Amino acid sequence: MTSFETARSAEELQRLAASHLWLHFTRMGGHEPPIIVRGDGCYLEDADGNRYLDALAGLFSVNIGYGFGEEIGQAALAQMRELPFYTNWTYAHPRAIELAAEVASLAPGDLNRVFFVSGGSEAVEAAWKLARQYYLARREQRLRAIIATPGNGAPDALGPGRPARSAGDPVLEGPAPVGEPETRHDAIVSEAARPQLRYKAIARHIAYHGTTLGALSINGIPALRTPFEPLVPEVRHVSNTNRYHRPPSETEAEFTAFLLDDLEKTILAMDPESICMVHMEPVQNAGGAFVAPEGYWRGVRQLCDRYDILLSADEVITGFGRLGHWFASERYDIRPDIVTCAKGLSSSYAAIGAVVATDRVMEPFLESTSMYTHGITFGGHPVMSAIALKNIEIMKRERLNEHVLAHEDAFRTTLAQLLDLPIVGDLRGAGFFYALELVKDKETRETFSDAECESLLRDFLSPRLFERGLICRADDRGDPVVQISPPLVASQPEFDEMTGILGDVLAEAWERIG
Ligand SMILES: Cc1ncc(COP(=O)(O)O)c(C=O)c1O
Repeated sequence: MTSFETARSAEELQRLAASHLWLHFTRMGGHEPPIIVRGDGCYLEDADGNRYLDALAGLFSVNIGYGFGEEIGQAALAQMRELPFYTNWTYAHPRAIELAAEVASLAPGDLNRVFFVSGGSEAVEAAWKLARQYYLARREQRLRAIIATPGNGAPDALGPGRPARSAGDPVLEGPAPVGEPETRHDAIVSEAARPQLRYKAIARHIAYHGTTLGALSINGIPALRTPFEPLVPEVRHVSNTNRYHRPPSETEAEFTAFLLDDLEKTILAMDPESICMVHMEPVQNAGGAFVAPEGYWRGVRQLCDRYDILLSADEVITGFGRLGHWFASERYDIRPDIVTCAKGLSSSYAAIGAVVATDRVMEPFLESTSMYTHGITFGGHPVMSAIALKNIEIMKRERLNEHVLAHEDAFRTTLAQLLDLPIVGDLRGAGFFYALELVKDKETRETFSDAECESLLRDFLSPRLFERGLICRADDRGDPVVQISPPLVASQPEFDEMTGILGDVLAEAWERIG
């Protein structure tokens, strides 16, 4: 082995990659990956010395850009020297405590409690588990309160002697029911069918929420789900907020009413008392930067309150500045009970994510023997925490939220020039988070067939944009879109450059179709 200071040739790296590296979401047969070797600001450089404007900020995630490695590296080094690792299982350490306090101070409302994980999927996974266990913990808390109430002594209230537990009752004390997890599976599933257990979740069509089995089950993208079925019971998907393909005469208020009606009907069809969580992004990425219509979030909150369901905002992309706020829940007044975040928390300089919960959600877990039965080794890792703290410090110092809010209109106006092209049907998004929807016919808004998407997006657009020095994503998880989400340090020169390249390449794409 050599250290990474020893430069290998591009050819050697390619050969080693071809033999050993298994890439994510990649058709590996014959694939020769671009090898990115360094970055600075909004730009990346590959092993052959070519430069690229990264209009995707890594994976919607390098919010401060690539230029702070030295400063963040010093923070990581100092932490490595002081304490390279310790755990959040029962123990705490200064960086996790400081980061939790910092995140709580930046989060809106009483989102005051922070549980650390290693990334976005784990955050979503943990949010669902938390929502499931919240109702059990709350029920135990209520039963304890009943038992503790004078005249409701435990034996009298729950029967003589130690009360016999029926299948759906929570464990009030002592160990969990006997048996190995595997052998208890059927019993758990049949218990889960009882209405007292809230275990189901609702998300939106075409929304991406990660790839671990629970998070994957929440995904609204059939092509990602299908290979791994049967998935975790039970998730249903409601309409997302894509307005582009709604009837043109529909007003915004009518659209909102349609969406909320769909959500309420779904809640009722699933049995409201079996649902623990509604999980949605403030602006949905997959499908192309769907912003919600006026009144939507107020209505979602009301429905969650009416049916006593926790509202979870997936801020894995939108958190930490993408929309000019620490949390987009603040921008849209979403008032979630739970927030999941990752990517921007460290600007992806570290593998760290978090679930942030309100005081209300935390409260039953502060009682007696109650415990959120979840943990992972790297949750709150001190070096990852130190990096996230430094990232937040840099974001504050560089005034990146203010920068996004000051430049979002100019960014949008620059991108809007692309609407003159016959292939660009829609531009949507907010902050530094946009999507262009590509259409075959602007009048009818007709979209491309699967085969056309394949030849247009995969075979032509993505490689051609890259060849021209622009990284952004041509995505067909819904209708075909180009997603644009640069580092938050981007400004007018980068907006112009990406719009120029996109304009040329999209015009070329149209000629090829025509
Ligand atoms: C909204 C959302 N949630 C969850 C995830 C999963 O995050 P990760 O890839 O860090 O597991 C992503 C990743 O893109 C995401 O966009």
